[in-house]
Amino acid sequence: MKIRMAPSLLASDFLHLERELRRAEEAGADLLHCDVMDGVYVPNISFGFSVLEPLSRETRLPLDVHMMTVCPDRYADKLAKLGAASVTIHSDAMDPERTADTLRAIRDSGMRAALALSPKRPAADLVPYLSLLDMVLVMTVEPGFGGQSFMEDMMPKVSEVRRMLDRENPSCEIQVDGGIASGTIARAAEAGANVFVVGTASFRAEHMGDALASLRGIAEGTGSL
Ligand code: DX5
Ligand code: ZN
Repeated sequence: MKIRMAPSLLASDFLHLERELRRAEEAGADLLHCDVMDGVYVPNISFGFSVLEPLSRETRLPLDVHMMTVCPDRYADKLAKLGAASVTIHSDAMDPERTADTLRAIRDSGMRAALALSPKRPAADLVPYLSLLDMVLVMTVEPGFGGQSFMEDMMPKVSEVRRMLDRENPSCEIQVDGGIASGTIARAAEAGANVFVVGTASFRAEHMGDALASLRGIAEGTGSL
């Protein structure tokens, strides 16, 4: 599967978002990962629609919106209107009875649908939804903050998800998010991830383009897919 790099805006300089957007574009990003946090599902508040809307008008990068909010089903329409390319919701952030409909609504609005597993959630959470997904996000830190250490013990879950998807929905991608850097990306790629969220190791690198190119090279060299 194609390796795709998704710098996480959370690590950017919020005072100069337009400049940061250009930096990500010039660095060869494939997606712009946008972490929306509500202070309820996670113990942190980041940004919301008033930031996403101007970003989507100003960039050619697909916006990959990671909803760390309760009731993400409330926001699918709004995300579609502002032009998000993909929306990731957390399996444990909403009424399970609404999950399938929400994933369908995301797809019906022309966006890609993804379901995220926080570290404590097992791969089995995905079972009812496998055919409705374009991407699975396996969190490699507890959601809520950038700059945390990569949880190596999530790698068996990545491999398990890859095996499930190969049987049921082989074109579905696996994204990893949290602590991705030169010392960790190879293990995630080997386990079966192909979309890499990179916050600290991209926006805060000395040279973002070099950092992304080097991470991409490592992932492509060791990816087993
Ligand atoms: C954490 C967010 C991440 C975060 C990753 O809850 O979902 O996207 O920005 O940051 P790094 O790459 O610094 O771990
Ligand atoms: Zn994220």
